[in-house]
Amino acid sequence: MIYLDNSATTYPKPLSVYNAVSNGIKSYGANPGRSGHTMSRKSGEEVEKCRKSVSKLFGVKEYSNIAFTLNCTQAINMVIKGILKPGDHVVTSCIEHNAVMRPLNKLEKDGVITYTKVKVYPGDNNKTLDSFRKGINSKTSLIVCTHASNVWGIKLPISRIIALAKVYGIPVLIDGAQSGGLVPIDVEMLGADFICFAGHKGLYGPMGTGILIAKSFDKLDTIIEGGTGTDSMKLCQPKEMPQKFESGTPNMSGISGLRAGIDFVISKGVENISNHESKLILYLYDKLKNIPGVELYMPRPEPDFFVPLLSFNIHGYISDEVGKILDKNGIEVRTGLQCAPSAHEFIGTSERGVVRVSPSIFNTKFEIDKLIEVIRTIKPK
Ligand code: ALA
Repeated sequence: MIYLDNSATTYPKPLSVYNAVSNGIKSYGANPGRSGHTMSRKSGEEVEKCRKSVSKLFGVKEYSNIAFTLNCTQAINMVIKGILKPGDHVVTSCIEHNAVMRPLNKLEKDGVITYTKVKVYPGDNNKTLDSFRKGINSKTSLIVCTHASNVWGIKLPISRIIALAKVYGIPVLIDGAQSGGLVPIDVEMLGADFICFAGHKGLYGPMGTGILIAKSFDKLDTIIEGGTGTDSMKLCQPKEMPQKFESGTPNMSGISGLRAGIDFVISKGVENISNHESKLILYLYDKLKNIPGVELYMPRPEPDFFVPLLSFNIHGYISDEVGKILDKNGIEVRTGLQCAPSAHEFIGTSERGVVRVSPSIFNTKFEIDKLIEVIRTIKPK
């Protein structure tokens, strides 16, 4: 099997991740920070080791600014619903995942907020930035946008968007689901108020892991309250981090695996991983460009403007049909809308979806050649 669906979830995982998940359930089988006995203490130490790895990869100075979540979607919801108040306005981009669009849509339908979806210009960051500027009004209380599109790979100029937001005093939430582990990120330098990551994608951790990093959690309200193992006499949620945002028993083996995944990324180097994948995607792009009937929607995905993934169609086919042919030939890719209908509306692919190819550090040029070989056999209709 040739797995090229790494933007959904990386597979395979490094051996160290499988071992850590197994060890997580065998050696850290007690609730961290709860019971005070030896194994519970060890579990707690393992969670803190993972927090240390997060802080090393993303340049977070204060460990207390890192919260573990069950996925990136949960982290995004925690910020959107924890910060917005009735009457607020939000600016977002036209290429967002449903993890952003559905909470915004719900709050809008409930009459709580309004939002503006602004256009992005692949390859022209000045125009994209201008779009964001024009979307801001006197009620704008949050800018939320993806770092990199899960459908088109387009990287948004987030440091410039954050600098723009600062001028207006507007907090920014970045969806880093597709950039974590693929784009060097120093959160202190970046200055984002909130940034969320999926543990199971470019960080090579298991599914059911996510990360929320905040400049400060002080002004963010909770949307989930519960047991933290601290201040148990009190009925109100603790104000201290990480307890404030980590209620309930965590995904202990997931966090163990996530630590190993992040340590793997650190040892390989984010730029090396990204260079490897970009080479494969640029090679694929250059080949597909010359195959009759292959429809490419974006310019050549240069690493300055794109993360390494590539979406295409074949003339006369809906994307699922192509996906099935590839699957029959042992090649696994993601088709359809990739949970990001807005991104498809933007380019006009809502009806057919797209075939998305997304490599990881483990894919090879040989595998991309096999993919190209099968694509050549699909005759455009
Ligand atoms: N959102 C994930 C993807 O892009 C699952 O496929």
